[in-house]
Amino acid sequence: MTGAIEAAAALVAGAHSVVVFTGAGMSAESGVPTFRDDLTGLWARFDAERLATPEAFHADPDLVWGWYEWRRSRARRAEPNAGHRAVAALEAAVPGTTVVTQNVDDLHERAGSAAPNHLHGSLFAPRCIGAGAHPAVFPDAEEPQEGRRLAPPRCDACGALVRPGVVWFGEALPEEALRAAVAAAASCDVLLTVGTSGVVYPAAEIPRIAARAGAAVVQVNPDPTPLDAVSTLNLRGTAATILPALVPV
Ligand code: OAD
Repeated sequence: MTGAIEAAAALVAGAHSVVVFTGAGMSAESGVPTFRDDLTGLWARFDAERLATPEAFHADPDLVWGWYEWRRSRARRAEPNAGHRAVAALEAAVPGTTVVTQNVDDLHERAGSAAPNHLHGSLFAPRCIGAGAHPAVFPDAEEPQEGRRLAPPRCDACGALVRPGVVWFGEALPEEALRAAVAAAASCDVLLTVGTSGVVYPAAEIPRIAARAGAAVVQVNPDPTPLDAVSTLNLRGTAATILPALVPV
């Protein structure tokens, strides 16, 4: 394993352009649960993939808004971990670094990453469901509680319901973030894929695009994933323990 980490560090040190592609495992050590973990506590009787759809929001906006507000309060209280800080340090050390995340928290930004591409949107950019998709500004609800429904606010501009600014299953990814991610993956020397199960498309194409274009793909994940097949090096460990060793000094 030490040999594999050293080999990965050498690849990064020799690279002109690096893509860091992250998923929920990146924030696991900050206390943000992943999607493949079963929902715990009072949310345990729900299925994350069934709550993250436009259909679920239309059928029961209070249930879905309550879940996202709870996740938003958890994310706000979470702190970046050593893995997020290592990604920001890598960006500083290798100027041609692009961070692409499937995460809807803001822990990359708070660790110092300049402008991560959020392929699945953000918990911190709610907007209305009206034709204008107006960005919504509203006071924080009193501390949301686990398992509690909460009525979404109404848009100040048009009166439509406000929804979370995330991408739900069945929705298109933000065009510019996806375009930038595909372009960076197609032209990088090294792609680090960190803490993602690699099963939700089109995001899961990003490491595969890099591999097809001839980049070295380095995976950081304690468990096997379908991305093992395209990875040059598989570093079986957590983001916070492995990533700091990959930052050029
Ligand atoms: P998943 O929950 O599918 O996968 C998390 C991955 O992180 C798994 O492969 C774990 O083994 C790994 N992992 C867990 N702890 C880790 C740690 N400390 N360090 C490194 N890896 C760790 O999360 P994503 O792949 O991000 O989409 O899921 C992709 C998308 O599916 C999400 O963005 C979300 C979800 O449903 C939408 O909501 C549209």
